[in-house]
Amino acid sequence: MSAVTQAGLENVVVAQSSRSSVDGDNGRLIYAGYRIQDLARNATFEEVAYLLWNGELPTGEALDRLDQELRAVREVPPGVLDVIRQLPTDAHPMAALRTAVSALGTLDPDAELAAEDSVARRRVALRLVAQMPTLIASIEHIRRGEALVPPRSDLTHAGNFLYMLSGKEPGPAATRAIDAYLVLLADHGFNASTFSARVTAATMADPYSAVTSAIGTLKGPLHGGANQRVMEMLEQIPDPEAAEGWVLDRLANKERIMGIGHRVYKTIDPRAAILREMSEAQAAEGDSTYHDIAARIADVVVAYFEANRPDLRLYPNVDFYSAAVLHAAGVPTDQFTPLFAMSRVAGWTAHLLEQYADNRLIRPRGQYVGPADRDWLPIEERAPAS
Ligand code: SDX
Repeated sequence: MSAVTQAGLENVVVAQSSRSSVDGDNGRLIYAGYRIQDLARNATFEEVAYLLWNGELPTGEALDRLDQELRAVREVPPGVLDVIRQLPTDAHPMAALRTAVSALGTLDPDAELAAEDSVARRRVALRLVAQMPTLIASIEHIRRGEALVPPRSDLTHAGNFLYMLSGKEPGPAATRAIDAYLVLLADHGFNASTFSARVTAATMADPYSAVTSAIGTLKGPLHGGANQRVMEMLEQIPDPEAAEGWVLDRLANKERIMGIGHRVYKTIDPRAAILREMSEAQAAEGDSTYHDIAARIADVVVAYFEANRPDLRLYPNVDFYSAAVLHAAGVPTDQFTPLFAMSRVAGWTAHLLEQYADNRLIRPRGQYVGPADRDWLPIEERAPAS
């Protein structure tokens, strides 16, 4: 049997997919052939969900139909809200979201049909995308002991989320910023949470089990949880002038700077470049402190590694500038990763549709390196472990 191919499966190609392609050396990302820059500039999240699910951009009529279908199922079953109310109010919102999605699956009659039935599968994908914003906003209000703000059907996906979160109709700038954020993070090849979803679906488990796996995976600070850590870092640095010393101290202690580095991108993440522009635009309209600190950190870190460890090719990733963008849109810091999930659920469900349609159980091998076969040892003869 071959030895372990690559720690962390680095550069190991595990399957083919037509959903998105990440070109790490050239910093390029496409969804079904369309450049992320064009999508961020021109598409809505609803349009991107259609693209990821169907492999083509929708006609006007098809987009209207999808938009209406999503708006019609934004409400979540009351039973799920009862489950959220049982959770500790200091539970991390990603843990609450993971639990809520799992509970949602017990209340969806299509859940147990979806692995085998392609029509039921698409209904579940629609509900998951439509209801994630409602779950996230509900978790926020319940943990604060506030009244829920029910979804509206006369607002866009992004606009309705901001309305449910704040109780006020959002302005066009915040709505556009959240919509662009959702477009940018909707899919990204075989990232850890998408792979986790596919491994679960490949056993023919239901889509809610697969998305629950994905949420649990995204929660980690090496993956989706990094955006919250970036904001907490920005909040520790008093001003842009203090950024260089703060960062160099941590690098000297071999600490990781969150939002920096990527398993695939060995140049700047194209999404980070777009988010930096978005952050700049928001800063121009209001308080630029966090943007200026973030920009200073990025410049210092890139210069440090280009000078000291050019072999590592470490650059800002999508989570780095997400922090300032989400903060400027009024999102609570520990709700940043749930917003990542709110976007990526479009990609997760798109990958699930692909996995179920042409499935084979995903089961790699491990190289056993433990002790060779040993004779049984009666308990009275066993010495305490050294
Ligand atoms: C996302 O995969 C995707 O597509 C994910 C994602 C998506 O859209 O789904 O793009 C979203 O998860 C982005 C990544 C968010 N995570 C972070 O920002 C956490 C901080 N970054 C790192 O922990 C790290 O860069 C990873 C986890 C992202 C990638 O790690 P790798 O490829 O496993 O690299 P590694 O941990 O083996 O590090 C290699 C070297 C080490 O130095 P040496 O031991 O060789 O001396 O690079 C150093 C690391 O110490 N390094 C860093 C660093 N990241 C790597 N040093 C300082 N700060 C960092 N952030």
